[in-house]
Amino acid sequence: MCGIIGYTGQQAALRPLLEGLATLEYRGYDSAGVVVLDDAGATPALTIAKRAGKLGVLVDALRDQDLSGRTGLGHTRWATHGVPNDVNAHPHLSGDGDIAVIHNGIIENFAELKAELLGAGRTFMSDTDTEVVAQLVASLVEQCRRDGNEAPGSALVQAVRIAARRLEGAFSLAFVDRRDPDVIVAIRREAPLVLGRADGASILASDVAGLLAHTRDVEALLNDQVAILTPQGVTVTDLEGNPADGHRFTVDWDIHAAEKQGYSHFMLKEIHEQPGAVRETLRARTDAEGIIVLDELRLDPTELRHMDKVVIVACGTSFHAGMVAKYAIEHWARIPVEVEIASEFRYRDPILSSRMLVVAISQSGETADTLAAAAHARAQHSRVVAITNVVGSSLAREADAVLYTRAGPEIGVAATKTFITQIVALDVLALYLAQLRRALFPEECRDQLARMEALPELIEQVLDCEPQIAELARSFAGAGYVMFFGRHVGLPIAMEGALKLKEISYVHAEGFAAGEMKHGPIALIDSGGPVVALATAGHVRTKILSNIQQVKGRGAVVLAIATEGDTEIKEHADHVVYVPEAHELLYPVLTVVPLQLLGYHIATVLGRDVDQPRNLAKTVTVE
Ligand code: F6R
Repeated sequence: MCGIIGYTGQQAALRPLLEGLATLEYRGYDSAGVVVLDDAGATPALTIAKRAGKLGVLVDALRDQDLSGRTGLGHTRWATHGVPNDVNAHPHLSGDGDIAVIHNGIIENFAELKAELLGAGRTFMSDTDTEVVAQLVASLVEQCRRDGNEAPGSALVQAVRIAARRLEGAFSLAFVDRRDPDVIVAIRREAPLVLGRADGASILASDVAGLLAHTRDVEALLNDQVAILTPQGVTVTDLEGNPADGHRFTVDWDIHAAEKQGYSHFMLKEIHEQPGAVRETLRARTDAEGIIVLDELRLDPTELRHMDKVVIVACGTSFHAGMVAKYAIEHWARIPVEVEIASEFRYRDPILSSRMLVVAISQSGETADTLAAAAHARAQHSRVVAITNVVGSSLAREADAVLYTRAGPEIGVAATKTFITQIVALDVLALYLAQLRRALFPEECRDQLARMEALPELIEQVLDCEPQIAELARSFAGAGYVMFFGRHVGLPIAMEGALKLKEISYVHAEGFAAGEMKHGPIALIDSGGPVVALATAGHVRTKILSNIQQVKGRGAVVLAIATEGDTEIKEHADHVVYVPEAHELLYPVLTVVPLQLLGYHIATVLGRDVDQPRNLAKTVTVE
């Protein structure tokens, strides 16, 4: 949620700020703003420009402005407190106009702090929690200056450290003070912030995408660390001012991977990148004998062998990947698996122990609910394995072990290649557990891995259905409601297909367990209403055929996703999209592809903003 960027260096800050915001816009796009600190005149000044709407509105507004200051901050917002308008857009200024702040996250005790600051005579312009921070820090800066902290930046640094002790919630914050022209001070707690250095400049951003134009060597700030950025370098301290180190790493993809490369949308490009992404996920997971070796897992195999239960926590699309994994882990490794939405898990009183393996799935590695669920599990002595796409993300750092999905950057807000690679990584984990527990013979593990190695080729074949799907999308686009159903591993894919469709096209869609239709949802079927049925080969196929008959009998128009060679399905469904034959547990990796394409093409027929759907953001760092 919210993209933040800061630059202090030798060149005018505005351009790197706007370029950085363009790469971060997928984190939020309700409004955008910049502040530039200009010290050319006798009195240094903060110039702010901010606009409701997408970044393009701000860029247009700045077209004729001559801002030459070399230090500044930029922000692209996903609104939490206050509607998305110009006033609530970031940066926010303190009442005296000396301090500007940008913020990603939520200040939970903002109402209490606001009342206190109002009582002290401060006034507020916006409805945001962020303005409270600007005012609080400004009042503390005054105090620090009175106490003699006159060295450049030192009053601001002191004030930020003191303010942080009063703030509750999750935040990354960056500040500039008009009187300290070359200094940016930043702090983070539970919301990501990364730092980089290049060509006499220091840059901060809410994720690596914002830094890649400058450097691939990144330092991620850890909780309650403070960073002081000047053109000469970056200093990191703890809240007491002691020197500290963030987490340093090198990003293994470059800025070009985050470009559209001729596709009309990132989502479409990312759908087509799925064969390569799966290949990467599977790369080098076995030794010469075909034994699975997960070096990055860093967990004692003996401990893993004796786990009584696996608990999977995740949100949204990642939750659907977890649902798919339950079938594979239980079937191959013979360990009971629970799958739970992270935001629910953390607020009940889950029974956890050191003999339970908690698998936290998050493509971004920054989802607040999933991070909190993982932290709760660790506090209860469970081991936590993270499945994530982002090296150096909070989840990767805070889990006991991590399995990277290696899908490359995903910019489209709708998760596609990260979903497929999560399933593949979870399947590898399932086989690894099966190998450790001797639940499968080594040759059975090898056979399964060989089937998985064939997946990229099979996904390529599925992608050939795109013209057929694009045609179907034209007839489905007028529907007010699309129902998806499936059984077994088809159920999470039905739910994922519905989620893809609704989030990017705004067409109401739901995924159901096919057997549950008769218990209520079938009442929704209308004459001509589209239904998508997951009907690939396997032990539940005939049951699905009956469910198709039940909705056909009530007037539904059925699109079935079936296995190549299944000619009988044509007698049941109005339209059939075929996927190649695969192992029953591996079908999700194939069947989700036509559903991603269906969502995409319906959304484009309806003229939706596919990569930046309304009200959503790519990284959900608030509760
Ligand atoms: C849907 C989508 C979201 C995310 C969810 C969790 O396309 O992308 O539902 O899956 O916000 O995000 P991560 O995986 O980053 O934890």
